[in-house]
Amino acid sequence: MGFPHNPHARETVLLSQYFGDPEARSYKGWVKRGGYEALQQALAMPPAAVTDVVKESGLRGRGGAGFPTGLKWTFMPKEKDKKKPHYLCVNADESEPGTFKDREIMRWTPHALLEGTLITMHAIQADVAYIYIRGEFTEPFAVMEQALAEATAAKALGTFKIYLHKGAGAYICGEETALMSSIEGKRGNPRIKPPFPAAFGVFGMPTTINNVETLAVVPHIITHGAAWHKAMSLSSPKSTGTKLFSVCGHIQKPGNYEVTMGFPLKDLVYELAGGMRPGRTLKACIPGGSSVPILNREETERCLLDYEGCVAEGTLLGSGGVIVFDDSADMVYQIMRLARFYAHESCAQCTQCREGTAWTTKILERVLAGQGKMQDLDLLLDLAENMTGKTICVLSDSCAAPVVSGIKKFRGEFEDYIAGRRRAMVA
Ligand SMILES: Cc1cc2nc3c(=O)[nH]c(=O)nc-3n(C[C@H](O)[C@H](O)[C@H](O)COP(=O)(O)O)c2cc1C
Repeated sequence: MGFPHNPHARETVLLSQYFGDPEARSYKGWVKRGGYEALQQALAMPPAAVTDVVKESGLRGRGGAGFPTGLKWTFMPKEKDKKKPHYLCVNADESEPGTFKDREIMRWTPHALLEGTLITMHAIQADVAYIYIRGEFTEPFAVMEQALAEATAAKALGTFKIYLHKGAGAYICGEETALMSSIEGKRGNPRIKPPFPAAFGVFGMPTTINNVETLAVVPHIITHGAAWHKAMSLSSPKSTGTKLFSVCGHIQKPGNYEVTMGFPLKDLVYELAGGMRPGRTLKACIPGGSSVPILNREETERCLLDYEGCVAEGTLLGSGGVIVFDDSADMVYQIMRLARFYAHESCAQCTQCREGTAWTTKILERVLAGQGKMQDLDLLLDLAENMTGKTICVLSDSCAAPVVSGIKKFRGEFEDYIAGRRRAMVA
C-alpha cells in the first residue's frame, strides 16, 4: 500500500491518506491501492506468527486504555487448544465526547477495517466477527454494509463471517463487556472481570475485542513489518505508530489529524488545527476524550501526545479526542456538562457510579445557580474519591477525572460562583 513513508516524520499518513477519496471506498478501488495484499500475506503465515508481528510492532489499543494489542491476542486459547468457537468484537461504538476518528475510518476506508478484521480473525482463530457500530452512525453503517457486500461477493472473506451490529444508543455500550451483553441481545451492562473476554466473552466463548483504529492499522504492520512500525515514534519507545486525533472546541480548524506518536500537543493545537479564534488565548485542553483529566495552558504546551507523555502531565491519551477551551470558557459550566453526561449514561449497577455521578451533577448545578457553599468543593472531591477504582467499569472514574482536575486547576472560578462574584450565562 503506497503512502509517504518516513518513519520519523511528525505527520505520517497511514490511516487518513484516503480520507476524502470516494474511489477508495469500493472493493475495486481498495485493491487498486494495494488493499487485501496484507490479508493474503497474513493468511500464508501461521496465526501465532501474525500475532508475534503485531506484538513486536508495539501497537497499543486505540480505544482508550492503550493495552498492547498483540499481547491481548495471545490470551486467546491457542490453535491446538481450540475447543470452542472464537469471536472477534470490533468496537465501533465511538461515543466518547470529542472523539470522531473511527467514524471517518469507516466512512472513507471501510475495507481497511474489514482487512484488519480478517487478519485479526486469522491471528486469534476467530470464526465470527461482530462490528458493533454506534447506532447514530447512519452513513458509516451504510458504507460498511456496501463494503462488506462487495468483499463477500469478491470472496475476500473465505470462511470467515463478519456481521455488522447497530449500537444500542448508550455510551456504556462502548465498554467492552457491555458491548458483548448488547450483542447478546441483553441490556448493555458491564460485567465484572475476571473472567476476561479471552476466557468468557460474547456468548460465553473466547473473545477478543479491539477498537476500529487499532484494527485498521494492522494491514500496514503486516505489509511493512514490526520494525517499521516500532521505529515510528517521536518520544517514548513504548508508544509507536501514528494516531488519529479528533480536535474540537474553541479551535479554528476542527477535524481529524494523524500524527506520529510523541507529537507535541501544542503543535497540534496551534499549527495543524489553526490555533485559537482571533483575540482569544488558550485556557485548557482535554487531550484524550472527555474521560481524562483536564490540562491547563502550561501543561498543554508541554504535553507530548503519546501514552507516557500524557501521563507525565497527569492526564491520559485515552481515545485521542482533543477538546480545546479558550479564555472565554466557563470551566465550572463545562465540568457540570461533562458530569451531567456521565450521570445520564451511568448504567446504574454500581452505587458509587449511580449516586456519585448524579450527586456530582446536582452539586455543580447548585454552584452554578449561585447556591453553592465553599464546603461543596471538598464534598465534590470526596465524592470523586469514592467514585474512583471502586466500580465494575471506569465510567464513574471518568466522571471524577475532569471534576478533580478542574477543581485543582480552576478553583478560583468555582469560588467566584460560590462567593456570588459570578453568575451563570446558561443553565
Ligand atoms: C464507559 C466506557 C466506554 C467506552 N467506549 C468505547 C468506545 O466507544 N470505543 C472503543 O473502542 N472503546 C471504548 N471503551 C474501551 C473498551 O472497553 C475497550 O478497552 C476497547 O474496545 C479495547 O480495544 P483496544 O484494545 O483496541 O483499544 C470504553 C470503555 C468504557 C469504560
